[in-house]
Amino acid sequence: MERIVIKGGRPLKGTIKIGGAKNSVVALIPAALLADGNVTIQNVPNITDRDALFDIVKFLNCDIKQDGNVVKINSSKLRNTLITQELSVKLRASYYFMGVLLGKYKHVEMFFPGGCNIGNRPIDIHLKAFKEMGATVTKRGHKYMLDAEHLHGADIKLRFASVGATINIMLAAVLADGVTTIKNAAKEPHVVDVANFLNTIGAKIIGAGTDIITITGVKKLGKNVNYSVVPDQIEAGTYILMGALLGKNLKVDGIVPEHNQALFEKLEKMGVKFTLGDTYVILNKSRKLKPVDVKTLVYPGFPTDLGQPMSVLLTQADGESVFEETIWENRFGHFPYLIKMGAKIETEGRIAKIHGKTNLTGTEINATDLRGGAALILAGLIAKGKTTIYDIDHILRGYENIINKLSNVGAKIELEEYNVE
Ligand code: EPU
Repeated sequence: MERIVIKGGRPLKGTIKIGGAKNSVVALIPAALLADGNVTIQNVPNITDRDALFDIVKFLNCDIKQDGNVVKINSSKLRNTLITQELSVKLRASYYFMGVLLGKYKHVEMFFPGGCNIGNRPIDIHLKAFKEMGATVTKRGHKYMLDAEHLHGADIKLRFASVGATINIMLAAVLADGVTTIKNAAKEPHVVDVANFLNTIGAKIIGAGTDIITITGVKKLGKNVNYSVVPDQIEAGTYILMGALLGKNLKVDGIVPEHNQALFEKLEKMGVKFTLGDTYVILNKSRKLKPVDVKTLVYPGFPTDLGQPMSVLLTQADGESVFEETIWENRFGHFPYLIKMGAKIETEGRIAKIHGKTNLTGTEINATDLRGGAALILAGLIAKGKTTIYDIDHILRGYENIINKLSNVGAKIELEEYNVE
């Protein structure tokens, strides 16, 4: 087994390059199966969620080749069989095979997806939309079977602007008969990226990035395409927060600044020193930080996936910050460990009062989920002494080369083998 060991307090200087967006690529890999030709995807991050999707693509008898950050997929020999529980529980995004296979073959069988333990995670919004498009849904235990004699366009109003449902509906609708309209659609950058990719392979989607997306079904998707994944808004935000805590002219490079507008607004209010360029930001540690209230919201609001890393910055502000998580029920799993390190945090439901400034001290802690794990790395980097983080698989699911990226800018962080007793 491996754990992460950090010796805290080192300034971060140099450049961190941001990779392709995890939450886009986990949809693009299944989406590539919609195309009849060869699909090349550039800027695919080396994360374990990617590998879990590769396993499903191979299981469906498709060709997949990976060379560094370039992935080539050919689905000409696709066999549409039941996706096993073992494969689908490895990640939440396995649900994108539902939209893809329903769209292409009008039939899909798979088990309920897995993912981080951050809340209930139902898929009722996805299934309701598929039914509105003419599919029947049969559920036996954890297994789902979707069939559509005639998959057709529909006027779909989402009860919540779900990222997964918006993408899944687009995946099914691109090959459906007629026009599908998604109202109250999610507007996250990765939703736009998936729409751009689908249009590149021949789909007709307009309005991605706004509340209303319109998809006109086509008969066939294909031709050989080459697509590059959008930079990861959340990876960027995580390193930006590290720069706010420890930066000495730390450059976070290869970003789309407007995707992190909500974060930059909060940093400005707190008094963080940063200089924004077209595709980069340079950050310096501030001696004094002001407290700020943060409420997570759908895009363009403050992203839920940055709430946990942000909470670490709030422990370093002088005074009380109120932090509210509105998207997931259970995104406070890292708090007991921050408290163990010396943070002062009181929670009531989905609201946390964070009292700063507190000095953190290194200790042994556990990553409970992906972004909570990233938050613990932030805490370890600023803590006095040695921090050891266990259950790091959660972190490696979504952060490419995090150990190297941080070591290269001066952090004392390494992976260490250990034996489980
Ligand atoms: N929801 C339902 N029913 C549904 C779908 C969602 O009630 O059918 C609820 C969820 O329970 C949750 C809220 O709606 O309370 C948001 O869910 P959404 O569908 O938007 O999230 P998701 O597609 O499951 C993606 C990302 C998450 C990210 C959210 C919100 C992937 C694979 N996951 O999840 O990423 O938090 O959007 O932006 O794209 C992460 O990267 O750490 C992560 C958890």
